[in-house]
Amino acid sequence: MKIRRTTPLLLLLCCLFPVTGSAEQATRWFNDKDLTLTGAYYYPEHWDESQWERDFKQMSELGFEFTHFAEFAWAQLEPEEGVYDFDWLDHAVALADKYGLKVVMCTSTATPPVWLSRKYPEILIRLEDGTVLDHGARQHASFASPLYRELSYKMIEKLAEHYGNDSRVIGWQLDNEPDVQFDYNPAAEAGFRAFLREKYHNDIHALNDAWGTAFWSELYHTFDEITLPKLRQMFMNHHQILDYRCFAALQTTSFLDEQYRVIRKHAKDQWIITNFIPDYEHGHIGQTKELDFQCYTRYMVYGDNEGIGRRGYRVGNPLRIAWANDFFHPFQGTYGVMELQPGQVNWGGINPQPLPGAVRLWLWSVFAGGSDFTCTYRYRQPLYGTEQYHYGIVGTDGVTVTPGGREFEQFMKEIALLCKEYAPRETKPADYLARRTAILFNHENAWSIQRQKQNSTWNTQRHIEKYYRTLKSFGAPVDFIYEDKDFNEYPVMIAPAYQLADKELTDRWISYVQQGGNLVLTCRTGQKDRYGRLFEAPFGSLINELTGNRLDFFDLLLPNDPGVVLMDGKRYPWNTWGEILIPGKESEVWATYTEEFYEGKPAITTRRLGKGTITYVGVDSQDGSLERDLLIKLYNKLNIPVMDLPYGITLEYRNGFGIVMNYSDQPYTFNLPAGAKVLIGDTTIPTAGVLVFKI
Ligand code: GAL
Repeated sequence: MKIRRTTPLLLLLCCLFPVTGSAEQATRWFNDKDLTLTGAYYYPEHWDESQWERDFKQMSELGFEFTHFAEFAWAQLEPEEGVYDFDWLDHAVALADKYGLKVVMCTSTATPPVWLSRKYPEILIRLEDGTVLDHGARQHASFASPLYRELSYKMIEKLAEHYGNDSRVIGWQLDNEPDVQFDYNPAAEAGFRAFLREKYHNDIHALNDAWGTAFWSELYHTFDEITLPKLRQMFMNHHQILDYRCFAALQTTSFLDEQYRVIRKHAKDQWIITNFIPDYEHGHIGQTKELDFQCYTRYMVYGDNEGIGRRGYRVGNPLRIAWANDFFHPFQGTYGVMELQPGQVNWGGINPQPLPGAVRLWLWSVFAGGSDFTCTYRYRQPLYGTEQYHYGIVGTDGVTVTPGGREFEQFMKEIALLCKEYAPRETKPADYLARRTAILFNHENAWSIQRQKQNSTWNTQRHIEKYYRTLKSFGAPVDFIYEDKDFNEYPVMIAPAYQLADKELTDRWISYVQQGGNLVLTCRTGQKDRYGRLFEAPFGSLINELTGNRLDFFDLLLPNDPGVVLMDGKRYPWNTWGEILIPGKESEVWATYTEEFYEGKPAITTRRLGKGTITYVGVDSQDGSLERDLLIKLYNKLNIPVMDLPYGITLEYRNGFGIVMNYSDQPYTFNLPAGAKVLIGDTTIPTAGVLVFKI
């Protein structure tokens, strides 16, 4: 480990950008003294009732603090319409309580019972090709169906009446991994029209204008003529698709919000969340109005080698959990993880065993980002059904603890040790806080770019990752934020490929910089309005006042014949996107193109504006090394101390603990900060190993 530069300016940075955050909101539900809770999903309905007690006893002896019930049990909870049976669940809750296990109750709306689908087939999802989904799997009911919602709320209300005031139940999970549905059910179409009427104030001309329907004779005369856009149809109007994606995401978030309100009427002291898959670009995560905080599910080993080295597929992508932490945490200042695999999964192309130690490494990775709990899917390996080969904490006999189960046990014991040493949640070193950085994110940018990439090798996620990966190598705490956050909390903010913008946002960026913020904007930013249309102005000029530049033109190259950008004597290949900038008088040029008819022209500029700086990166490099060196240069210039952690090594702080995790295929030796004391592990950290020290 190497601190690139230390500076007495740290204190100044901390005063200019005080860490406020919203951690207080979450403390209502959790205590610092617990550090984190650990739980396991259990499906009583899958097992003989005579085994429940044995299972809860062992679950508790292993160290678990909570379990999770009724996630897919609507058929058992409401065997006939309007006839409810909670006796079996009451028994399971009582037995869990006997062994000190709290319960997370679920709403089971991912699995309607057969009577519902047969009696009301109009609730079934219809795919774009006309296929109507059927009973026999899960997630086949349409969130856009008012009838499905009504039937769901009836069942949920009964459950909430029954358990909402029960101190054995700590919280609620809504649905299961509710994703954005691209559903062509007639109810969705009617809903889309209603959404558009409201958005465009019943004015079809406003819609025609927003969607540019003068093009190719796409004009509409009434809202009733509008259908759901066929995503597979070539050249389908992409402004319409932007609106459709907003509508589709809203179906998911409003369904969750309504479920929340039904439960909240009866549940005063229980938190209510759902378990999102971290598909950031789908646009539903964090967008509900009601959820108490955001939770995710994460699977790390499923056959793809996104890890480091030959066995990297057994450990997983080093940034996968970190990114989810940094995305979910900023919404309400905490998060939980609902599903972390305890071993092999069943749904990958190839489903290998995780490397011994990997399960524990993931648990620490979740904890390091500031979570309040982690839960595992699942306690027992199922003997029948779609997920037979899925590992549990115990194996097929129901009692033998799997290697991953043992790693959970070890983690829970280690957390119990740390509970004797903890400090308040936000106890973190000044140099770590000084380098905290926001990445401004809006999924609509990714949607818009996706339909008009201009270069098939462009990948929005990968573009963002080039910056994110560098920040994690700095040992920086990163927050992914939406525009509703206060930019002024962050010394540095990066808005990568922020294509859709307006004057209001540009003005906010200007005032952020003028007040001392350091903003990095990257190529494609501000080129379109919020409907995805180009401005009737010089191309890309929305941000000229901010960057001080003008944009001459942009070029795109073939991947096998890249161009080269030069910065400080070093050469960086690029091909997906390169903007040729005309710098203003105050702009300092940091990188130039070396070839073609724009040889010597600027690719990256920076300048001071008020008390801050604005850096514009007009190019996307092939391997991310330009983005890395650029950020090193910038942070050095700003006197922000950064580390130089190799890819695969992550460092975070919480509760007065430093946590270093090794996802690489080599041992890594970490230089402890002065005065730090090792609590867990050793300063030489093996592959999949963890070091925890006290500051
Ligand atoms: C998750 C899902 C769980 C279970 C698990 C298997 O995506 O939420 O219900 O199916 O996958 O790994």
